[in-house]
Amino acid sequence: MENSDTPPTFLEFLSGLIDPAVLMCWSLKSDFIPVTYTHTLLTIFIRGQILAPILQSRQVRDEAFSRFWINFSAPRVTVDEHGVPDTSNLSGSGALIPPLLQKIRGVVLDVGPGTGTQMPYFIQPAKENVSAIYGAEPCVGLHAELRERAALCGLEAKYHILSCSADKKELIDALRRDGVQVNNAATNANKEKEKGIFDTMICIRVLCSVPNPAETISDLYSLLRPGGQMIIVEHVVNPFTLFGSKKGGSLMARCLQTVYSLLGWSFLIGDCCLDRDTETYLRNAAERDGGWESFDLEHRFAWTTLPYISGVLVKRQ
Ligand SMILES: C[S@@+](CC[C@H](N)C(=O)[O-])C[C@H]1O[C@@H](n2cnc3c(N)ncnc32)[C@H](O)[C@@H]1O
Repeated sequence: MENSDTPPTFLEFLSGLIDPAVLMCWSLKSDFIPVTYTHTLLTIFIRGQILAPILQSRQVRDEAFSRFWINFSAPRVTVDEHGVPDTSNLSGSGALIPPLLQKIRGVVLDVGPGTGTQMPYFIQPAKENVSAIYGAEPCVGLHAELRERAALCGLEAKYHILSCSADKKELIDALRRDGVQVNNAATNANKEKEKGIFDTMICIRVLCSVPNPAETISDLYSLLRPGGQMIIVEHVVNPFTLFGSKKGGSLMARCLQTVYSLLGWSFLIGDCCLDRDTETYLRNAAERDGGWESFDLEHRFAWTTLPYISGVLVKRQ
């Protein structure tokens, strides 16, 4: 689909270029440096583990990321007594999310839900049209907030937190531990058109962070039931090309994506990748079935370093 942006104001243009720098400074100042120092000093001097900063670097980064994300995603949305969230203050990419989440149905996989920031936007459809929601969140430091958000939204009975990534084997093991009967046909690549597990998958700002996007997106596709839908709101590589593109794009924003990546964006922001071509991975995942039944993605904010794709993809019946 073509780009559907209206021209930005000067302030929007400027913030579209510097947003990643602001986030990196925030992560460095408020979370990354304090958590890393505290952890290093504690493990060396109190626990006597001299090699801990090297051997436990993954754990330290997870801890720093969970601190950063808990602060960054602190509740900003209010929900009335009928479970209807106030969306009037949403702008930018945040405004793309609530209408798409109204479409969730059946058995839902919430991929990398973080602290559950998006949960208030699907309270109503979750109560009416959903049998169970599985939140696959590998960062255990976020689980307490996620659990609390599910309770506040009145979804504690339906929302199951899985301590796993979107990797297929991890996900299926975690589902089985949670008591879900996953039969082999559902996970067998040859029979997946007959089965699958999920009717809806929610992918919001998460496919930028998975370590093996081609494999993970292909695996997620295989776990989607025929006729099932993937709800996508993801920031992606800037669509600039030398020959011009219907999706728009900006040379300056594309170059800045590379600069921010070199300055440590991924290291500071939970392994997030600024210049990922997620749309191509999504298209490729369905190639074995002759493509998606519908592939309805909108391109937004093409002048920025955080341009988005958003929409719904439906798997063939
Ligand atoms: C930028 S946060 C977005 C959280 C949430 N989707 C939101 O919109 O508020 C990215 C989330 O993806 C999770 N994540 C990272 N790698 C993942 C993986 N391989 N599988 C599932 N989730 C992952 C992170 O732990 C983090 O919670």
